[in-house]
Amino acid sequence: PGVFRQLSQDNMRFTFCLPNLACLDRLVQTPTVIMMVGLPARGKTYMARKLARYLHWIGVKTKLFNVGDYRRDAVKGYTDKDFFDPDNTEAVAIRNLCAQHVLEDMCNYLQNEGEVAIFDATNTTRERRRTVYNHCVAKHCFRMLFVESICDSEAVIETNIREVKLKSPDYKGVLDTVAVKDFRSRIDLYAKQYETIDDTNDEKHYSFIKIFNCGERFLVHKTRGNIQSRVIYFLMNIHVLPRTIYLTRHGESTGNVQQCIGGNAPLSEAGKVYAEALAEYIDNENISDLIVWTSQRQQTIETAAKIDAPKEQWKALNGIHAGTFEGLTYQEAAERYPEEFAARDRSKYYYRYPGGESYHDLIARLEPVIMELERAENLLVVCHQAVARCILAYFLDKDRESVPYIEVPLHTVIKLTPTAYGCMMESIPLSVEAVNTYRSKPKNFVSNRSVAEPSNQFGELDLEPKTVSTRTQIIYQNSGTAIETTDTSGNQTQHLD
Ligand code: ATP
Ligand code: F6P
Repeated sequence: PGVFRQLSQDNMRFTFCLPNLACLDRLVQTPTVIMMVGLPARGKTYMARKLARYLHWIGVKTKLFNVGDYRRDAVKGYTDKDFFDPDNTEAVAIRNLCAQHVLEDMCNYLQNEGEVAIFDATNTTRERRRTVYNHCVAKHCFRMLFVESICDSEAVIETNIREVKLKSPDYKGVLDTVAVKDFRSRIDLYAKQYETIDDTNDEKHYSFIKIFNCGERFLVHKTRGNIQSRVIYFLMNIHVLPRTIYLTRHGESTGNVQQCIGGNAPLSEAGKVYAEALAEYIDNENISDLIVWTSQRQQTIETAAKIDAPKEQWKALNGIHAGTFEGLTYQEAAERYPEEFAARDRSKYYYRYPGGESYHDLIARLEPVIMELERAENLLVVCHQAVARCILAYFLDKDRESVPYIEVPLHTVIKLTPTAYGCMMESIPLSVEAVNTYRSKPKNFVSNRSVAEPSNQFGELDLEPKTVSTRTQIIYQNSGTAIETTDTSGNQTQHLD
């Protein structure tokens, strides 16, 4: 009962009591270890990172433990595949020690704060799997799910080596031909001792999923609980085909011009110009088999109307529901409901509008959209500010506190191209003026006061027409880190750590 505080303003509802959010946050009762299994270049890290990003987005505290990183820390300067020879006793001892360190760090993490730990290594022997299982399940009472990737497509393996493995720190400064040959020998050495999960005898008590040839076929065995079923559903929906997701907010609406919250409004004159510009932009991109998703609100339907591609309307893409605040301006809302308004500034991600939604609710509503986005190929999503933020947070692996403040300007197309371990984001303003609907967190906000400082009650809401920002390209790793950012209008590139 201490976790909830009942508020009776406007209508009866429950709101989170902020100091106790941490315990509400815990979605998982029993921590889970997910252990990747498979030969090198079978997409284990790809799946592990994507999975970590998805679990993080739905609010599960997840951490990835890559044994390769521990190995590179322990042995500076990789020489060649002999390190992976099962007969190289010195190297085997180092490899086992690294796995042992991962196991300890993983268990510490799950005992303290974590809900899911992903053990990313080849884990190709029964002995290794038994050791980890006994430690995690028998000793710590964690749950365990094995994810095995089996792939015998020569073409896929060749592509994986060329597109991903050649960029590995192991092959820095090494000729491509030499690196490919070495990596292939490394796979052969692993293959000598590889034992697939035995589903009929020794390992039939494990929970696992076997994924054959990038999802051509699956074998799901003895899975338990909410986390495992969500993980499996996710893994059964992802694919590796190259594609681009275009994301845009609707054109400026009459509601935006009046600075209204929420609503179902037609496009303003500038919004109509954007709808034309968007159709032209999409036409020039020549996108194969494009599908357009809109919400069920006028402003997104009108924005997509001129685009020559099949369209689908999703209720789940409707803007955040502002409850009794719908149709008010930010200024009216602050004047009529100062405490509510301040509460939103205090914790914008969790704040639920009276009779409406929070960003936290929005993420739950958008989960089926994300799943369908994973299944889809080329796609244009026309949506609303808060929804676009939640979708971007998924692709860019943003922390939840930052989600409500992600900048998504009007009249800008965001092009998302998934890469092996992350996502490339390009922002393309279509040079049609629009109001700025971004409202930053008030700078002089005092967190222990119930009301925001009156001098800056509205944050920085810019009411002047603006042309939008410059064209940029940012490459994100699946950890929310931008590793490279390019101003494509001026062609300046900045590499970030
Ligand atoms: P290693 O054991 O050397 O770390 P790995 O199994 O972790 O190798 P990744 O680094 O994840 O391999 O390989 C990435 C590539 O795998 C990506 O290019 C991706 O397209 C591809 N991939 C993703 N899923 C699969 C899958 N189920 N089977 C085969 N390849 C996949
Ligand atoms: O201002 C446009 C809009 O899409 C509103 O309809 C919506 O309530 C708001 O943006 C979401 O942004 P924020 O959460 O910053 O208020």
